[in-house]
Amino acid sequence: MRLKSRFAGPLRGRARPPGDKSISHRALILGALAEGTTTVDGLLEAADVLHSADAAKAFGARVERSPEGRWTIEGAGGFKQPPETIDCGNSGTAARILIGAAAAYPISARFDGDQSLRKRPMNRVVAPLTQMGARFDSARGTLPMVVHGGKLKGITYRSPVSSAQVKSAVLLAGLGADGETILVEPERSRDHTERMLKVFGADFDVVDIDGALHPRIRPGKLKGAHIYVPGDPSSAAFPIAAALIAQKSEIRIEDLLVNPLRLGLIETLLEMGASLTFEERRDPIGEPIADLVVKTSRLNGVTPPARRAPSMIDEFPILSVIAAFAEGETRIEGAAELRVKESDRIAMMVDGLRACGVDAEELPDGLIVRGGGPKSVRGGANIRTHGDHRVAMSFLVLGMASKEPVVVDDAEMIATSFPDFAGFRRR
Ligand code: S3P
Repeated sequence: MRLKSRFAGPLRGRARPPGDKSISHRALILGALAEGTTTVDGLLEAADVLHSADAAKAFGARVERSPEGRWTIEGAGGFKQPPETIDCGNSGTAARILIGAAAAYPISARFDGDQSLRKRPMNRVVAPLTQMGARFDSARGTLPMVVHGGKLKGITYRSPVSSAQVKSAVLLAGLGADGETILVEPERSRDHTERMLKVFGADFDVVDIDGALHPRIRPGKLKGAHIYVPGDPSSAAFPIAAALIAQKSEIRIEDLLVNPLRLGLIETLLEMGASLTFEERRDPIGEPIADLVVKTSRLNGVTPPARRAPSMIDEFPILSVIAAFAEGETRIEGAAELRVKESDRIAMMVDGLRACGVDAEELPDGLIVRGGGPKSVRGGANIRTHGDHRVAMSFLVLGMASKEPVVVDDAEMIATSFPDFAGFRRR
């Protein structure tokens, strides 16, 4: 399904973004691992997360949704032998975290996914889990693969990448290992698993290694809990961007997750001169929440520090669009991970920006965008998205402030993370 966007007048009003995708996956997976009942409000009901819900069932949990939208998970106190292949669809998060969780139990589970997921690297979880004692059948270190779990031993794993998926896989495997498991990563990635493990009563803490704190887990049982899922900052990034670049806009994003490890884009936009104000900060659930007021702003190009990349890894596509409407050069570095996301996001964004008349250039680990200011972008292109939801949404936002409309070749994948994207409007 193609989708077109065109010049939009001032955006005004208030709206709540869909539930956070990372927290939604984890609520279902930890709920399935736990003993007893877990209830989840605000779950993101998007294709990626529904794959985790189906997986939770296949691993032995009872999963139900009430007509009001509350999800209930009756965990089996661990994963049981699944009767069928676990289909993770387009979701790297579902695949990697579930593989880690499954490795802790004496079962053999086969995982598969769509064409995009079958190309994405799984060695990053296979390597530490093999060290812990799991065994894998896979032709090339990619999906489809079978995990044979059980009888794991705890390890200290120094991950070469800052990846919350790898961290979560290792920590959840550690729940069923003999002894303690510690995960060391170059820069801290999002910490939702750690926060949620505490809520579920895990024997979890942090240890100081070389002057930095790293998560440590000891084996034990989880107990069902109540989880509230706040609005997803990675989805909110699109309406935030639209309000910044569509003239005379002022919007209020409500109920937004403001975990500091997810706010790299906000930090970068403030450095570019964006008018962004947090209001009504609160912390009811072990994760900080706030409202965010966004006004159209004159922006300058920026070079975010490479170490910030993990806290904005999903936001680089939309940042590169915003940069096209800023004055001067924006240089993104330290983001080589973008090449192994749902598509090669560096190549996809540079191709599409150029097609829209923007001066953009690839770097091995990022890109350069030379912006010409608010009314400088031509647009008028047919964008190839390679089935990547964030690439599609980024160019649809670009079309809201460019001179000519923008068409994306396939908008269907947007449903993996933001099902109501095209209809997202004020309450
Ligand atoms: C996620 C971690 C990030 C992110 C993804 C969600 C998670 O991936 O890009 O969209 O929920 O753990 P990596 O772990 O590969 O960095």
